[in-house]
Amino acid sequence: MADDLPESAPPGIDPTTPTFARVYDYFLGGKDNFAADREVADMVMQLVPEAPVVAQGNRVAIERAVTYLAGELGIAQFVDIGSGLPTSSNVHQFARAVNPDAKVVYVDSDPIVLAHGRALLTETGVATFIQGDLYEPEKIFGDPALTKLLDLDEPVAVILAAIIHHVPDERDPAGVVRGLHEFLAPGSHIMLTHLHDSGDDPRVEEAKKILQSGLGGSYFRPAAQIESFMDGLTILEPGLAHVTEWRPNGPVGPLEHPLHTQMVAVLGRKD
Ligand SMILES: C[S@@+](CC[C@H](N)C(=O)[O-])C[C@H]1O[C@@H](n2cnc3c(N)ncnc32)[C@H](O)[C@@H]1O
Repeated sequence: MADDLPESAPPGIDPTTPTFARVYDYFLGGKDNFAADREVADMVMQLVPEAPVVAQGNRVAIERAVTYLAGELGIAQFVDIGSGLPTSSNVHQFARAVNPDAKVVYVDSDPIVLAHGRALLTETGVATFIQGDLYEPEKIFGDPALTKLLDLDEPVAVILAAIIHHVPDERDPAGVVRGLHEFLAPGSHIMLTHLHDSGDDPRVEEAKKILQSGLGGSYFRPAAQIESFMDGLTILEPGLAHVTEWRPNGPVGPLEHPLHTQMVAVLGRKD
């Protein structure tokens, strides 16, 4: 599109208010974003030029986790909550590369994700897309589209990638994660990635402020607090780790960068 032409948004989408999904899409080099999203993303990148690398490192961790869960552990059912906009490779592609029976339900609260997700990610009997809110797990796990595709008496892997850091402390992120347990059969897993405050990167404070003013909430948290969100689950090796160090024996992505310390990953099993 020429720069002087206005961008058109799908019906029901407000292009003037930035959203997490669209800012993140821009970081990943996607095209499903608008000027308001790029403005926030550019402000972050002025301060932290390598910010997109953090997003890419996060995707690498998702790939490792899903490949491990679907391949080595034989998990065939996935619920990707806060899936974000479709990107070059998505959870069902990672899973089905190693487990042809794998099925995936994508869930996101942002209507633009639903619009693009339905168009690109839905495949009969393989993957479906529902609009849902992390704060209402009973609606997600009771959605007829989900129960049609998945058998909740069998293990499920829930992917919570880069979403729990949008939950403020007042909304009890540990309680939000724990609230998912009751819908999961024994042998199910929860994989979480989260923005990490290592306490030694001065830019984190500024990045927090920019994200806060533009998008309304992204919380960098210390490792111990993030780990506490897995209470009630058995944490699998190697425990909580920076995204590039997590599952070091898994397929290794192309990215190794110091900024990957700003995102951590952890995987737990419900026994
Ligand atoms: C930073 S993106 C992460 C995308 C993808 N999971 C990844 O890690 O590559 C966060 C996503 O969480 C979604 N999200 C935020 N709050 C949510 C909520 N309460 N319920 C469902 N989705 C939510 C946003 O719309 C956005 O698409």
